[in-house]
Amino acid sequence: MHAVSLEHIAKTYAPRASGWRGLFMPPSGPGFQALTDVSFTVDHGEFFALLGPNGAGKTTLISVLAGLSRPTTGRASICGHDVVTDYQAARRSLGVVPQELVYDPFFTVRETLRIQSGYFGFRRNDDWIDEILANLGLTDKADENMRALSGGMKRRVLVAQALVHRPPVIILDEPTAGVDVDLRRSLWEFISRLNRAGHTILLTTHYLEEAQSLCNRIAMLKRGKLVALDTTKALLARTGGTLEEAFVQIMNTDEQATAQVQA
Ligand SMILES: Nc1ncnc2c1ncn2[C@@H]1O[C@H](COP(=O)(O)OP(=O)(O)OP(=O)(O)O)[C@@H](O)[C@H]1O
Ligand SMILES: [Mg+2]
Repeated sequence: MHAVSLEHIAKTYAPRASGWRGLFMPPSGPGFQALTDVSFTVDHGEFFALLGPNGAGKTTLISVLAGLSRPTTGRASICGHDVVTDYQAARRSLGVVPQELVYDPFFTVRETLRIQSGYFGFRRNDDWIDEILANLGLTDKADENMRALSGGMKRRVLVAQALVHRPPVIILDEPTAGVDVDLRRSLWEFISRLNRAGHTILLTTHYLEEAQSLCNRIAMLKRGKLVALDTTKALLARTGGTLEEAFVQIMNTDEQATAQVQA
């Protein structure tokens, strides 16, 4: 049983009229195909990167895994739990740090984390909450209102929220966008520690040096298609240089040549 399994995932966003009409009018037209036949697995304990340019489909794929978006075709599972038919177990096995900053401005940091713990049935979770807060440099912000935090601090809270129920699989969608060097370091130290303790990590980032130094295996998406899936070592050996060089080479390669990526 894999930590993450994706089988022939396709996702077409239905076309919507703009403005308020989009809320009421039925979809019409072919829609936009954001993912095409994406298949791969991530094993337990891996530190895995999902890379690709803006609009490649990374967040769409993560939304499918989190149960926020239904795949048009294909199956996805977390720790053997189908994300559609066994949604609750799949969701319990997963912690997601979303790309967008979403928060409730009326609660403090600690309240936010207690509420999140409650969603997963944890009543007395303060020891673990304190440990997360300390590791993310948030201890002195615990009683501050969410709306009073800076952007980088809010992102730290999103990371904390994803961890409150100690999920075996953690997905981070660009967790270091807009955060300072200090948090980057402490965040990766903490996440690496969780990885060494057995948690599976799936990460998206545009900072390729982060993926290069942290991840054992890497998948690359281009316009919704899987165009590379290999160990970091093997990808680096392709150019003999950095991951950024390998990434540029793969992205510039003709799609026909990269279409047959083995899952
Ligand atoms: N709700 C939606 N309705 C229609 N199209 C969408 C929707 N969400 C995403 N898309 C489109 O799907 C494609 C993939 O978007 P996605 O957000 O998955 O990309 P991404 O790889 O995460 O990019 P980025 O690096 O910028 O975060 C884009 O062309 C985007 O415009
Ligand atoms: Mg994204």
